[in-house]
Amino acid sequence: MIIFEKVRFKNFGSFGNTMTEIELNKNKSTLICGTNGSGKSFAFLDSITFALFGKPFRKINIPQLVNSINEKGCLVEIEFSRGLDKFLVRRGISPRILEIYKNGDLLNQDAKSLDYQVILEQQILKMNYKTFTQVVILGSSAFIPFMQLSTADRRNVIENILDIDIFSTMNTVLKGKILSLKESIRDINTKLEIERNKINVQTTYINTLEKKNSEDNQDKESLITEHEAKIHNLQVLILNINPDISQDHIQTAIDNIKTQNNILKQHNKNISARETNKQQIQKEIKFFKDNQVCPTCSQGISDKLKKDKIISHNTQITDLDIGIEEIQRWVSIMENELNAYEIALTQSRQELVEVNAAKKEIEAFTGDILRIRKSISKSSLTGDISAEKDKLNQMAGGLEVLISERTGHAEDILYHELANDLLRDGGVKTKIIKYYLPHMNKYINKYLSAMDFFVQFNMDEEFNEKIKSRYRDDFTYMNFSEGEKMRIDLALLLAWREIARLKNSVSCNLLILDEVFDSSLDSVGMDELMKLLKVVSDTTNVYVISHKSDQLVDKFSTIVSFDKKNNFSRMINS
Ligand SMILES: Nc1ncnc2c1ncn2[C@@H]1O[C@H](COP(=O)(O)OP(=O)(O)OP(=O)(O)O)[C@@H](O)[C@H]1O
Ligand SMILES: [Mg+2]
Repeated sequence: MIIFEKVRFKNFGSFGNTMTEIELNKNKSTLICGTNGSGKSFAFLDSITFALFGKPFRKINIPQLVNSINEKGCLVEIEFSRGLDKFLVRRGISPRILEIYKNGDLLNQDAKSLDYQVILEQQILKMNYKTFTQVVILGSSAFIPFMQLSTADRRNVIENILDIDIFSTMNTVLKGKILSLKESIRDINTKLEIERNKINVQTTYINTLEKKNSEDNQDKESLITEHEAKIHNLQVLILNINPDISQDHIQTAIDNIKTQNNILKQHNKNISARETNKQQIQKEIKFFKDNQVCPTCSQGISDKLKKDKIISHNTQITDLDIGIEEIQRWVSIMENELNAYEIALTQSRQELVEVNAAKKEIEAFTGDILRIRKSISKSSLTGDISAEKDKLNQMAGGLEVLISERTGHAEDILYHELANDLLRDGGVKTKIIKYYLPHMNKYINKYLSAMDFFVQFNMDEEFNEKIKSRYRDDFTYMNFSEGEKMRIDLALLLAWREIARLKNSVSCNLLILDEVFDSSLDSVGMDELMKLLKVVSDTTNVYVISHKSDQLVDKFSTIVSFDKKNNFSRMINS
């Protein structure tokens, strides 16, 4: 229960720069009187709601709350306690102030002023403006009776009184969460689609790589086989040629050629010697043919001698020719052999060149094979493809994370929607309201009959009323006269207060009746109301604003009056 203790203000409405302080829990019942415009409503209605909720009870713009003569320094302070804690709220305009003190300490003001107000309403007062006005204030032109509130506002007030508005707050939070979860799922779905596309592209890429890789390797293997066959052929060629033998042949051929050449030279020399010899003999034959006398000894040369000499010389020439011929035959044979040796030499040299070329080719092919084998072992299967497969696995992992995140969100939505169902107007709240409705109706009827207003009031779950009156059909609130409406309003207010006390929710010590006695109540009504207030004032500080002070003055323990002096309102305690 909240006990409001003091409210004080300055430069507020018609009040000037001097602080006016009103004690709110000192007297059981207080009558507030004063002429029209003396400042009663500012002092008791607007000051309290402005201090607590930042807005006046009446529809006045905030800047117009500042005293129009002083135009600044508007300040309202309210002190109250809740359990063992004492609170002070200071609210000002020009300059703007909002301070909340708990047991003398200023509450953390890091929060924005809106949050600060939320803390005040939700955590400290535990009631909002609408509920406060429904359980504390009755009457006056600005007051909207419960029965004239919209269904939503009626629900709001009752939920606040029953302390179940937290369910509505929870519901709002849940709805927000569901919305953001659905949004997350939409985001995840988009991401999933992108990831799936990426995975498809990656899989196709890997397949292409694998296909290309195996084709490449096949090509390489067949190239190796070709090279190996060529190497084999070259090796056979080398074996067939036998380079060692070729080398020996070359050496032998060279030696033979040298020997043959020497012999040939000798033969040619012999031939020339014989030719020279032959020419000498032919000269002598010619001498004997041409000469009759010896030129040296001048003796005559006989014909016989001549003949003999010519015959013997011709025989010599024949012998020489035979010898030359013989030698020339040998020369021809040897020249042929020499030729054969030279051919053999050329061939053997050729063979060696071929062997060397084959060896070089074998070397080149072997190198090539080695290089190809390396490129096969280093190829995509172990390198690029496995890296690409790793990437694919990572992508699949990411996909799984997204899917499980989505499943989690979907489960959360399910639970939130279940909770949402429970928290909806038709859910737990309705159960609680249903439970309390008979109690509410009981209290309302109790207060109505206490005011000698014998009707059967019944409010349903939709907060619509049916009022049965004797000899009449079902009536609604609007069917009744102003005085009767006033009785219903009061009965409802007192019933709310009773329920609030029961629930220990929005219960407080203040009850302010603004001109309730003045307008529609007849003298019987006034008496009944006074009787009721007497009972109520045992637990409540009742304030009655009225112009009928002469009729009421003896019924109140305290009277506070207001008047205006020098254009400023002032309070006079009697
Ligand atoms: N910002 C302001 N500065 C100065 N005076 C103001 C300001 N706003 C309103 N007033 C005046 O303050 C006076 C007090 O008004 P208030 O409504 O409190 O009177 P009241 O005592 O409740 O009168 P009633 O009995 O007619 O309801 C009025 O004369 C009004 O014109
Ligand atoms: Mg007034």
